[in-house]
Amino acid sequence: GLGTINIPVYIHIVLPNANDVSNSQIQSQISVLNNDFSSTNTNLLPSGATDFINDATTTGVSFSLAQTFRYNNSTSSWGTNDSVKSAYPPITPETHLNIWVCNIGGGILGYAQFPGGNLSTDGVVLLHSSLPGGSAAPYNLGRTATHEVGHYLNLRHIWGDGRCKQDDFVTDTPSSNGANYGCPSFPTVNCNTTDMTMNYMDYTDDACMYMFTDGQRNRMRAIFASGGARDTM
Ligand code: ARG
Ligand code: ZN
Ligand code: CA
Repeated sequence: GLGTINIPVYIHIVLPNANDVSNSQIQSQISVLNNDFSSTNTNLLPSGATDFINDATTTGVSFSLAQTFRYNNSTSSWGTNDSVKSAYPPITPETHLNIWVCNIGGGILGYAQFPGGNLSTDGVVLLHSSLPGGSAAPYNLGRTATHEVGHYLNLRHIWGDGRCKQDDFVTDTPSSNGANYGCPSFPTVNCNTTDMTMNYMDYTDDACMYMFTDGQRNRMRAIFASGGARDTM
């Protein structure tokens, strides 16, 4: 097999005062990614729940902070049209995950580019206040990054962005007919199956998501061996 795949990360903080996101927040964000992708997150089994716990898995993907860049920029709302990436282009996206931390606006927590897209826009954009310790509660435990990096590594939303029959191309994630929000009670049943509301690729609160599946791990890892944009990492 490929063994553990380590992805070096460049962080670009783009804010009116780029020091508003601290180095310790960046370190915490990298730790959240590493814990979530290795299934060592401490909210596994919240309040004694056993929901889908046997399906929670490590991914064999890890992250290391390569460098943080800070840019003071008075733009108050960057939107989702990649303009922050044009202003501050990604650095060696062939080998590095580039993450822009900025004010996106419109209530958007983050967005990502799937593998195979243009390298000039490759990477993940995060709302600055979604980082650990930020003000975007209940989305301030760093799991927007986990979710968006899932997209960056080829994962779809767990409900497939459609109704019951819409596939997320992962067999061990149950079908659903839409996103779940908040902290759903168990079981939440849609499409005659119990939703995996605690999957990182749903839209639930940061505190209430805690897992990837084997199928998601395999889908992520496949891109490193199949000639996609990530296979040079
Ligand atoms: N792309 C989603 C959004 O902007 C991110 C959802 C992240 N969910 C979370 N619990 N942090 O709304
Ligand atoms: Zn998403
Ligand atoms: Ca599925």
